[in-house]
Formats: sequence, structure tokens, C-alpha cells
Amino acid sequence: GMMREIVGLSVLEKQIREKLKVRNVIIVPGNSDEYEWVKQEMGKACVTYLKKIVTTRSIIAVTGGTTMAAIADVMTPLNHRILFVPARGGVGEKAENQASSIVSQMAHKANGEYRQLFVPDPISESAYQTLIDEPMIRDVLEHIKGSNIVIHGIGDANTMAKRRKTSEETMRKLITNHAVSEAFGYYFNQDGAVVHKVRTVGLQLEDLSSIDHVIAVAGGTSKAEAIESYFKQGKSDLLITDEAAAEQILRGK
Ligand code: BG6
Repeated sequence: GMMREIVGLSVLEKQIREKLKVRNVIIVPGNSDEYEWVKQEMGKACVTYLKKIVTTRSIIAVTGGTTMAAIADVMTPLNHRILFVPARGGVGEKAENQASSIVSQMAHKANGEYRQLFVPDPISESAYQTLIDEPMIRDVLEHIKGSNIVIHGIGDANTMAKRRKTSEETMRKLITNHAVSEAFGYYFNQDGAVVHKVRTVGLQLEDLSSIDHVIAVAGGTSKAEAIESYFKQGKSDLLITDEAAAEQILRGK
């Protein structure tokens, strides 16, 4: 029955908290590899959590991806007029999965505001220097650096590298260095060490330690290893995941 399920998930949450050494874990039923609605369930859990932590001054930085897009789908008005910003320059992904379109949808549904950042990802070193001096871009970057809540996805390294049409040279580097997970354009091995970083503007991994709430949202059996790898370097305070990923994490490979 329903009660058993709720009790069962809270046991699972405790086990994942201990295994990944993450402060807070929320698990929703299902497997997001199989059903789209499971991503939306994770999204609802995220919106409920946001309602508890947002204040008038909150700035929420958001990454791209289908999971973040699902959170935008289920966003509801928040109690304050929040500013949403993309965490990093957009990846060459489908428009609806880019952080800049996700923040506009989130802001619309939350009765908030947003800024967009149309910067290629990856960008060349020379373009980087020029772009960060552009007043409009600098303005958005200042808001990003001032964010106190971050919501981000975690991807399987190989899946993300392919989705981003990564160069063959970088592909080889990721394989040689056994990349397992990806978040914020950083690729991590199974020990959580950074093996590659996509150059773009916006949040850098080292910025996370000074941000009050860093929320990772990722589910599905296929992401179990990636989630475990990402949390080895432990920069996020809350993991919102699904039952299938959690069970796979506990089973091990
Ligand atoms: C990307 C984020 O857009 O989405 C990545 O920038 C993340 O950091 C990825 O790993 C996850 O995507 P999805 O579609 O699996 O939610």
C-alpha cells in the first residue's frame, strides 16, 4: 500500500545519504529511463523544496538538460519574485534543453524574472576574453556569481559527450581517462576527479562551495554510476533522484 511505499523510500533515502555522503536525499518512485513523468515527479519534489528555501533575494542558477526542462514543466508560482539565471553558457543542445530557454520558462511559471546567456559552449580562449568584457554578458555573469541556489543535472559522461558533438580528440581523452559522469561541463572519473572541463562562462565548480543550496536532480538506472561518481567530490547538498537509480547505486555495478 501507499504507506509501505512511503516508509520504503525513506529507508532508501537514508541508505543513499550514507552511501554517497550527501546531506539530504529525496527519492521519488519509478525509473526516469522508462517514463518521462518520473522526471516531472523529481521536478515536483524540487519545486516543493524550493518553496521552503527561497527568499525575496534568491537568485537561482540552472543548468540545461531534459531533467531541468521537466522541472520547468511543473514549476508553480513561488512565494517571492525570484531571479532565474542560466548557470553556464548554453551547450550546443536542442533549444528547449538549453539553460537559457529553461530559465525563461521557469520564471514565467514562477512569476519571477530571468536573464539569458547566449554564449557558445565550448568557446575558444580568445572568444572567452572578448565575451566576458561585453557589458551585457558581464551583467548576467554578475547575477550568476551572486546566485545562492543552484539546480543542476548530472549526466552519464558518454551520453553527454555524444549529445554535445564532442570532438574526436576530446572523446579519446574522456575514454582514456575513464570519464563516468558530467555536470556543469565538467567530466569526472569514478573517484570524482575532474578529467576534462568544457570551457565556457558562468559557474565554475569551485564556486559551488560558497553557494547556500546546491541541488542535483538526476534519475534513472542508466545514471547510477554517474551519480555515484559525481558525489565522490561532494559539492551538492541535496540529491533528488528516483527509486531505480537509488536501487542501482546500492546494488553497485
Ligand atoms: C546538461 C547539463 O545540459 O544536462 C549537464 O549542463 C547535465 O550538466 C545534463 O549533465 C543532464 O541532462 P539530462 O537530459 O540527462 O537531464
